[in-house]
Amino acid sequence: MSDPDLLAAARAVRENAYAPYSRFKVGAAVRGASGRVFVGVNVENVAYPEGTCAEAGAIAAMVAAGESRLQAVAVIADSPAPVPPCGGCRQKLAEFGGPDTPVTLATTDGVRQETTIGTLLPGSFSAAHMDRA
Ligand code: THU
Repeated sequence: MSDPDLLAAARAVRENAYAPYSRFKVGAAVRGASGRVFVGVNVENVAYPEGTCAEAGAIAAMVAAGESRLQAVAVIADSPAPVPPCGGCRQKLAEFGGPDTPVTLATTDGVRQETTIGTLLPGSFSAAHMDRA
């Protein structure tokens, strides 16, 4: 299910990405359970591993606002094909969304791919795996 407003928010915030090292700006927007939209960008650092992804920023904004469930996700970058979230971001998305939570991956040229958190991270590690009772 596409969410044009969510993708528009990701596209707009992408301009603010701080990516002087990769020169690869990414924008992300998430819709929380309340319907509110939260945005994030990648924020790089001269100590490269300290950089953070756009998805992580959007999730952090949602949690800081008091929400903890994802209704939908959109990610956009100026890439030849819709950019897939990195492994760490897939795990972060799985923490706050369900397997059927829709994820829109897009390029700034208008190519879109609709997927879900479950498709991006099949067989994900969850709290149930720690249940030994
Ligand atoms: N990046 C994201 O922000 N999200 C993704 O889904 C893929 C990669 C960022 C991390 C880094 O700042 C730049 O893109 C290049 O890897």
